[in-house]
Amino acid sequence: MAEKARIVVLISGAGTNMAALVYASRIGDCPYEVVLVASNDPAAAGLALAAAEGIATFALPHKGMTRDAHDAAMEAAVLESGADTIVLAGYMRILSDGFVERWAGRMLNIHPSLLPKYKGLDTHARAIAAADSHGGTSVHLVTPELDAGEVLAQVRVPIVPGETAESLAERVKLAEHQLYPRAVADYVSRWRNPGWLLEQLRARALALPETSEQESFGSAGFRVGEGKSGKYFAYFSERPHGHDRIALLAKTSGMDELHGLVEDQPETYFKPAFYGASGWVGIILDRPDLDWGDVDAWLQRSWRSVAPKRLTRLLDIADEF
Ligand code: GAR
Repeated sequence: MAEKARIVVLISGAGTNMAALVYASRIGDCPYEVVLVASNDPAAAGLALAAAEGIATFALPHKGMTRDAHDAAMEAAVLESGADTIVLAGYMRILSDGFVERWAGRMLNIHPSLLPKYKGLDTHARAIAAADSHGGTSVHLVTPELDAGEVLAQVRVPIVPGETAESLAERVKLAEHQLYPRAVADYVSRWRNPGWLLEQLRARALALPETSEQESFGSAGFRVGEGKSGKYFAYFSERPHGHDRIALLAKTSGMDELHGLVEDQPETYFKPAFYGASGWVGIILDRPDLDWGDVDAWLQRSWRSVAPKRLTRLLDIADEF
């Protein structure tokens, strides 16, 4: 079992979502642990609970501070905790662009509406006023634009007769307490999720010229060229024979390179059964620190080594210079 992700939860108020995240982290093999709960309000009720749970806390009122200075202090506390992911749970401060950008892809928020509807405040009252059939909640990645990052998960909550903003908020919170721990767990463990890995690989492989996907012996395969004359340049190999890792199979220049890679970097490369005999290398994808730039480079190389001349001619000419 890989190490757990380390998350910081930022709160401003009751912190019931923070509590849900903490208790979920105590069950079974939850893939994250809460290493710090931080707030812009020293009186936030959630801080006392976190402390009682033995979790480190940090509080700094924002009053009298510039946004940048306050964010810098919060970020310093986050870095100090060794966290790899920031989880906003009712943190009612807008964060400066620089802070958000440094944590791009590593900062999540929960927002009490079905985004993209009702960004900002008063979400429940607005959903009721619009006579919507449902309110709900969304977990999304945080980007500089408010409540506009990629939505990772949502739960719909029906609006019942006589509903008030308060009654809806309360039921939406019940939904949030189920959704957020699950969404955070899925997100921090996506690096070992075969479906997510295949999706990433597919988007990259099919971005190359004249490529298509065709299954081969139960694995997703990617080809370049038309119809029967096309050739495979990559395979997605989910737990191949003799190996328990998820891998990209790509073509090397030959046995010398293949054996060199496997010898020098066994945590990254292996010689796959069957394909290895013809110079294909296995590149392990289920690593938390995987560099997708390296994967792109392998896909391009492998593509180029089997693509028809009419597609590679220009690249070959460029190489001469
Ligand atoms: C939650 O409902 C959350 O969705 C919302 O604040 C509440 C915090 O409750 N967040 C926002 O409105 C962010 N714009 P909690 O402190 O009990 O977790």
